[in-house]
Amino acid sequence: MSHEHELVLVVDFGAQYAQLIARRIREARIYSEIIPHTTPVAEIIARRPKAIVLSGGPQSVYAAGAPQVDPALFDTGVPTFGMCYGFQAMAQALGGDVRRTGLSEFGRTPVHVAENAGALLGDMPPNFRAWMSHGDAVYAAPPGFLCLANSDGSPVAAFEDLARGLAGVQWHPEVGHSEFGQVVLEKFLVDIAGCRQDWTPANIVDDSVAAIRAAVGDAQVLCALSGGVDSAVAAALVQKAIGDQLTCVFVDHGLLRKDEAERVERDFVAVTGVDLVVRKEADRFLGALDGVSDPETKRKIIGREFIRTFEDAARALNAEKDIEYLVQGTLYPDVVESGGGEGAANIKSHHNVGGLPDDLQFTLIEPLRTLFKDEVRAVGTELGLPDDMVWRHPFPGPGLAIRIIGAVTRERLDLLREVDAIARAELTEAGLDRDIWQFPVVLLAEVRSVGVQGDGRSYGHPVVLRPVTSEDAMTADWGRLPYDLLERISTRITNECREVNRVVLDITSKPPGTIEWE
Ligand code: XMP
Repeated sequence: MSHEHELVLVVDFGAQYAQLIARRIREARIYSEIIPHTTPVAEIIARRPKAIVLSGGPQSVYAAGAPQVDPALFDTGVPTFGMCYGFQAMAQALGGDVRRTGLSEFGRTPVHVAENAGALLGDMPPNFRAWMSHGDAVYAAPPGFLCLANSDGSPVAAFEDLARGLAGVQWHPEVGHSEFGQVVLEKFLVDIAGCRQDWTPANIVDDSVAAIRAAVGDAQVLCALSGGVDSAVAAALVQKAIGDQLTCVFVDHGLLRKDEAERVERDFVAVTGVDLVVRKEADRFLGALDGVSDPETKRKIIGREFIRTFEDAARALNAEKDIEYLVQGTLYPDVVESGGGEGAANIKSHHNVGGLPDDLQFTLIEPLRTLFKDEVRAVGTELGLPDDMVWRHPFPGPGLAIRIIGAVTRERLDLLREVDAIARAELTEAGLDRDIWQFPVVLLAEVRSVGVQGDGRSYGHPVVLRPVTSEDAMTADWGRLPYDLLERISTRITNECREVNRVVLDITSKPPGTIEWE
């Protein structure tokens, strides 16, 4: 993909924010990738970046073992922008003066813009606030640089050398707390580095389609659909590229939410025209889960049965069609976090997929490998997938089985499906789907409490509402849903689902609680 689009490389010095920087650059509609700071200059240049951004990092530039910038990078003629550590590393490498300040600056910090604020800050107001996090400061800019701003703790808080296309800021323009952060970033990328802003969902689709066609040729491809956003978008993209060379398999394990299987079987097929094989295996999964209430055992059983079912379907299809590729919905953050280097390749050439046996070895095709989640959604919309599919909340592979505390039975699943459908419908009706990361509803199937429903005493089950907000599911907070919404959900559940006589709200963050109860 990157060969079609201009590429900005983010050199990662161990920043908390490297992925955020890459996302901000892409929000400016310019394609960017993250590379480790150990990447040799020759390798960087070979990728022909239009610009380079040096990220922040946790160390002092002059500390022993601190990651260094090879000064040769600044002789390549590629416009380069430093942020925080990257700014100091640039200053140090080019002969500026970097020292420990008496005054560390952490958090929102006033920045004072110089009289002559150059191309980078020329349009800024004289004072604004930027997010800083540093104990060292640049005392003197390197020769040839113009100092553009200062703060109390940073004699030189921004500089540029337009003749060489070099610039930098002491603060973190990528974080939301920095005023004009995106403006400053785009000033560099567009005005100084001359990047084109054409990384759009339509172009992403066109490029991916071309790359998939070129890689796959006339081979046969298989994709497992889960009902989730990633596999749906990956399949739709591959379908657009190679049409009926793609076959999708959907394993309905009977643990999905209300209407989800139908959504895949009917709506997804209607929108994409994809060739879909559905395996309805509720009996198999429920049989294997019979009497099991331990969470990890449930997971193991479901994982095992899933692989067996998928293998079975894949083997049958393989006999018929000789399948060469398997689509996987890997996203860019996974590639970066596994140290996976270049995101640009659509095809990974190793064969060892998710524990499949030897006679079922496919080459992986990962059409979302370069994309962040928000870009996957934008691509899904571009491909015409419906909003409820594109904006679907994450849902665990083991499904409702891990939201029933106790053994999984058909009756309990049916009950939880109804309860869950009410909660989700009300959340959607309130327009809050996109504010809430996930909204599990948990059935405490082995707890009963006394209630009064109608004129009689009841002895039913409680359900737990677990709305959470999150960025990435690693940490989460409980979602502050409005009381009137909670009231509507509670009333509807107890009215419409007679086995439930109590609705409780989980107000635990993660940590210490996990998002799911099991
Ligand atoms: P926890 O409960 O650990 O969940 O806070 C974090 C995220 O992962 C999802 N989750 C799972 N997804 N298989 C999955 O595919 C699982 O066994 C599983 N357990 C939890 C959970 O829904 C949340 O988004």
